[in-house]
Amino acid sequence: MITVRAPATSANLGSGFDVFGVALDRPADVIRVERAERTTIEITGVGSQYIPTDPEKNTVGAVVDELDAPAHIEIDKGVRPASGLGSSAASAAAAAVALNELYDRGLSREELVPIAAEGEAVVSGVAHADNVAPSILGGFTIATADGVHAVDADIPVVACLPEIAVSTRDAREVVPETASMEQLVETVGNAATLTAGMYRSDPELVGRGMADPLVTPARAELITGYEGVSQAAREAGALGVTVSGAGPSLLAVCHEHHRRDVAAAMLDAFADAGVDARAYQTRVSRGARLL
Ligand code: HSE
Repeated sequence: MITVRAPATSANLGSGFDVFGVALDRPADVIRVERAERTTIEITGVGSQYIPTDPEKNTVGAVVDELDAPAHIEIDKGVRPASGLGSSAASAAAAAVALNELYDRGLSREELVPIAAEGEAVVSGVAHADNVAPSILGGFTIATADGVHAVDADIPVVACLPEIAVSTRDAREVVPETASMEQLVETVGNAATLTAGMYRSDPELVGRGMADPLVTPARAELITGYEGVSQAAREAGALGVTVSGAGPSLLAVCHEHHRRDVAAAMLDAFADAGVDARAYQTRVSRGARLL
């Protein structure tokens, strides 16, 4: 039996829509796999009642097919589905790493990324790698059509998850189809600033580079309380705030000594908007690991 813990992730980081992602130290999914004649899936943990156990419909079923690795799979969900924290990606990433080990497939972490992305496609319709890449490789990842580049980074963050649901499909429908040259130039500048910040593990540069004139404003409309929470986080010391993935979670980057205050301010501001929420005081961290 093999057990793997794969972390939650935050995709986009504002300026890197469908490209950037980071692994978070917590929350995480834990998966146990055991060889079997045919695949069966058992799910416990947060939001497990909403996740199908039929291998045809579950994100890990596609990973089993890709690796030709039938197994009995137990998934303990720590990452809430539809949270914007890469819930399906964490399960797909954990399954890819675990089944590769269970069946001695000998694939590298980089080779497992597109395999886990096929699992993502079952849920979102598209094989995005911007959540599975950081969940498998850790740190900050840049996922493009040419492959994935990963950078070790150590950045304190708060991920604040409100008790509202935003589906990835809905959040993709509001993304503008075109951008002006001015917006493009601003976005490229911010994405470059953010990347430099990750290489230096500099929260100030990362926070500045998270600004996004294009996708985030459209998606913020889907999240009750977004403006108030974002402003409260900044007043408490956040250096950048954005929608995490497709939402509804918000991601705030800060210095370590402000993290507790930022988390408290975000929770208070959501409460003022009548929304229950929970905040993870966490950091950019390593990827999936065998337990
Ligand atoms: N980049 C994706 C999005 C992440 O924002 O829609 C969620 O799958």
